[in-house]
Amino acid sequence: MSQFNIAVIPGDGIGKEVIPEGLKVLQAAAEKHGIELSFTHFDWSCETYHKTGRMMPEDGLEQLKAFDSIFLGAVGFPGVPDHISLWGLLLPIRRAFNQYVNLRPVRLFEGLQSPLANKKPGDIDFYVVRENVEGEYSAIGGIQYEGTDDEVVLQQSVFTRKGTDRILKYAFELAQTRDKKHVSSATKSNGLFHSMPYWDSRVAAMAEHYPEVKVDQFHIDIFTANLVRMPEFYDVIVGSNLFGDILSDLGPACTGTIAIAPSANINPEKDLPSMFEPVHGSAPDIAGQNIANPIGTIWAAAMMMQHLGHPEMHDTIMTAIETAIREGHALTRDMGGSANTQQLGQAITDLILSH
Ligand code: NAD
Ligand code: IPM
Ligand code: MN
Repeated sequence: MSQFNIAVIPGDGIGKEVIPEGLKVLQAAAEKHGIELSFTHFDWSCETYHKTGRMMPEDGLEQLKAFDSIFLGAVGFPGVPDHISLWGLLLPIRRAFNQYVNLRPVRLFEGLQSPLANKKPGDIDFYVVRENVEGEYSAIGGIQYEGTDDEVVLQQSVFTRKGTDRILKYAFELAQTRDKKHVSSATKSNGLFHSMPYWDSRVAAMAEHYPEVKVDQFHIDIFTANLVRMPEFYDVIVGSNLFGDILSDLGPACTGTIAIAPSANINPEKDLPSMFEPVHGSAPDIAGQNIANPIGTIWAAAMMMQHLGHPEMHDTIMTAIETAIREGHALTRDMGGSANTQQLGQAITDLILSH
């Protein structure tokens, strides 16, 4: 029997509400397929920061290292500046464990209404492949001449050849497995003088190894416009850390709600744990109300099991999500229903147990 040890970090806000639903679904699917999952909880969060001055203990990364996967809710809450909370927990995990691929599928489900006119299931079905450990996300730089008229802040970006090539390779490899075999690169080489022309040159170099894959590139400004105007054009989108972040909120918004979108922070070499979480954040505006949609978290759980080598568990969970949405079982408000977080989590769990 396969056995996996999962580190669970609910984190902040609605992270604490959606994670229990993800665990409930995982447990049901694991029982069905004879897989044993053991969950170890870590209460690291902004509350921890208030108590200890740290988001996680000094040896936090060391504690996580031996787990098969990390399952995370959300990090960040008013009261702790976002750059402190995120650089104290989420971002160090992505970096320490070399989770350089952030894979974010975007799909319009039957039963949900796209805010874009005349879009039906099948019209929106693409992946955002986001570079996840370098790029515009960096703590390199700082303030100079502070408090004077000459005060200046510098914020460095980092694009290594290794880091750029490996994410592009992942995107091309993924495209090769898809019907459309199409990679679209998000760039901004008219405004960013060094990094983006470099990115473009690496895309061109990588494309030569994949003659059967169609490639195009758009500056991020028109990219966002095109995504809204003709989402059916896209298949595999590859972008830097920042552009990938933006496109992976815009994409799911076009499918009716950002709350269903999952995020797999993958270490493809599998020598260190990968991390699975919803795309959304801690949603302080609805935290504590039991109305958050748990589907982003549940879909992330499915991706976790796929990564751990159990596609049958992934498929079981995805079928239950699709059925719940299509048949309108216990939908939350963001999807036009009136059910609460637990009712939707339970409905998906029941679908797994009854099929
Ligand atoms: P957010 O994703 O938390 O919320 C944006 C909007 O979407 C809000 O109106 C919220 O109510 C709604 N929403 C989000 N998830 C939902 C769900 N599951 N069900 C129903 N509605 C949902 O983004 P934000 O407001 O920019 O960020 C809030 C905090 O979360 C900040 O501290 C931010 O840094 C952090 N954040 C963390 C992560 C992460 O941990 N991966 C991701 C994004 C934002
Ligand atoms: C996400 C989030 C994070 C990111 C933030 C909270 C640092 O927006 O996972 O999409 O930008 O990576
Ligand atoms: Mn984001």
